[in-house]
Amino acid sequence: MPKERYPLHQRIPEPEIMDEEEQVRAYAEADFSAPHEMFVDLFEERLGKDIEGLFLDLGCGPCDISVRFLKRFPKAQLHALDASAPMLSQAERLISKEGLKERIRLFHARLPLSGNELPCKTYDGLIVNSLLHHLPNQAIFWEAVEKFAKPSGVVFVMDLLRPEDKETARELVEQYSGSEPEILKRDFYNSLLAAYRDYEVREFLKKTNLSCLTVEVVSDRHFLVWGKR
Ligand SMILES: C[S@@+](CC[C@H](N)C(=O)[O-])C[C@H]1O[C@@H](n2cnc3c(N)ncnc32)[C@H](O)[C@@H]1O
Repeated sequence: MPKERYPLHQRIPEPEIMDEEEQVRAYAEADFSAPHEMFVDLFEERLGKDIEGLFLDLGCGPCDISVRFLKRFPKAQLHALDASAPMLSQAERLISKEGLKERIRLFHARLPLSGNELPCKTYDGLIVNSLLHHLPNQAIFWEAVEKFAKPSGVVFVMDLLRPEDKETARELVEQYSGSEPEILKRDFYNSLLAAYRDYEVREFLKKTNLSCLTVEVVSDRHFLVWGKR
């Protein structure tokens, strides 16, 4: 008998900030090398090797992506922001271990941002991975992107792609995090259900000043939004 499938016509939001101790530890210790290397590989493929300037990483979490970005692009500097203090503690540890303190500054702040939380009004580029689906709506996210990316600045956003149904979400969790702690699997499942479809993002961006950005599906569970403002 075929398995029952529950179509996901709409996203199911999940808790916004990740600040439970066990949750943060599981996230910081998980092996994200494949998707996070894909993030920097795709950045280099689309925007080139010769990247320099001051970038902003929104929802940086434990800074695994930020560190990979700084290592790949040695002329880049970063400001990285998250609303979770325990995530930022993990980030501090990683940055010290990697000897990158001179090239990155951390900020504890929550979107929506007024602009006073950061020392710079705009940045040469924004990099963001897996923040969009945590927020209550797309407007909060894209308003921050528009506010902080300078004219002609780079925008590079990767996020989870909501699967067709809950059964596919369960299969993806088993396939990609089968041996991880239950709490990480729970969060991954909830994140897949909270994620957007690529066409929902495309539709939203058409109504903004960011309609020049390209939205493309890049894996069975990720889409990318990228370009220059
Ligand atoms: C799934 S994690 C992604 C972390 C990191 N970008 C990565 O790819 O590993 C999402 C992060 O966004 C943060 N976050 C959620 N809502 C936020 C908000 N409104 N403002 C700032 N950070 C937020 C969470 O605390 C969490 O650290």
